[in-house]
Amino acid sequence: MAKIGATPAGGVQRLTLTDEDKQARDLFLKWLRQLDLEIKIDEMGNIFGGRAGNNNDLSPVMSGSHIDSQPKGGRFDGTLGVMGSLEVLRTIHENNISTERPIVIVDWTNEEGSRFAPPMVASGVWSGALDRDWAYNRTDLNGKRFVDELVRIGYKGTAPARKQQIHAYYEYHIEQGPILEREGKIIGAPKGIVCIHWCDIYLEGEANQVGPTPMEGRHDALCAAAEMILKVNELPAKMGGNMVATVGEIENYPNSRNIIPDKVHFTVDIRSWDDDLALRAWEDVRKDFEAIAAKRGCPIRIEETWRVEHAPFDRKLVRRVLDTAEELGYPSLCMLSGAGHDASYMNQIAPTAMIFVPSIGGRSHVEVENTRWEDCEAGANVLLHGILQSANEA
Ligand code: GLV
Ligand code: MN
Ligand code: MN
Repeated sequence: MAKIGATPAGGVQRLTLTDEDKQARDLFLKWLRQLDLEIKIDEMGNIFGGRAGNNNDLSPVMSGSHIDSQPKGGRFDGTLGVMGSLEVLRTIHENNISTERPIVIVDWTNEEGSRFAPPMVASGVWSGALDRDWAYNRTDLNGKRFVDELVRIGYKGTAPARKQQIHAYYEYHIEQGPILEREGKIIGAPKGIVCIHWCDIYLEGEANQVGPTPMEGRHDALCAAAEMILKVNELPAKMGGNMVATVGEIENYPNSRNIIPDKVHFTVDIRSWDDDLALRAWEDVRKDFEAIAAKRGCPIRIEETWRVEHAPFDRKLVRRVLDTAEELGYPSLCMLSGAGHDASYMNQIAPTAMIFVPSIGGRSHVEVENTRWEDCEAGANVLLHGILQSANEA
């Protein structure tokens, strides 16, 4: 899978709904067909592979993640969870194991939200939290619509993107942070995922020749943005709690070294386990933005693009991940997920848990993202046993 969209420095660039995403989906489907699964593609492009249980009136156990990536992203983010689920189903298939409940593997469309904001949009629609047509009309930086790109790559399926009852949802993923490695643990069981707030800021300035225009009286949109970005960076220290806040994307116009910038767009990402604290942080920084915009004479437009509340996972399933790790002899840790996952939306409709394995050097969303194969195997073993237990529950 990592060969599709491979980058020279060892990562992948497989942005959602691009030709690379299509190629990866085609390969995934080929692998699903080898297991005689019942394949379904829904109107959001989510791909499901179902394996029958002894009693198909019982709700299924679901497991999966995503195979889209960040620009110059890593090979493991998302893909490990989809490949891990596939490996689990292969193991069950090859060993002729039957389960009481059906098992469903899933690849969610556009988890990353890098090309089309917001992230986790397709699990969001499937779970009923987000509106399908709103998602369809999201555009990328070139003005291309989500739905048109979905049709173009041939993955707008006919099944409704509508939740069904799920007995348990597992998502296996790399940690994407430094804690497991630092603590010398192999399996992480997040007790949940932090809340995430995304905003888009649009600033207007006044363009002019940089040489003859005196410094006084300028309306430099990029300088306004620079001040605002530092306010975002200072926010976690100011608010306390376990908050992080980041500006990761910026467009500056006309982006010429000898023109005063007259238009800037940048993004804000605020995360915390505490939803109220994140809301208060946003209100706080918003006031700073407005004051800076007024001081520099740069009109501001603020768009609150997306928000998902913190997701406290099902205690019983989290316990099961920890117990299974212990039974298999893997040192484990109960922790938090600072990264967003489709499990956030799944947690709103079904008992949910995740299984983390260490990221070497704590690096992720970068080409050098890596995880030891022994750790990948450990995570997949925990996933296998977790799924089997859930799938045999009455
Ligand atoms: C998902 O990749 C995130 O931004 O945490
Ligand atoms: Mn991911
Ligand atoms: Mn990611």
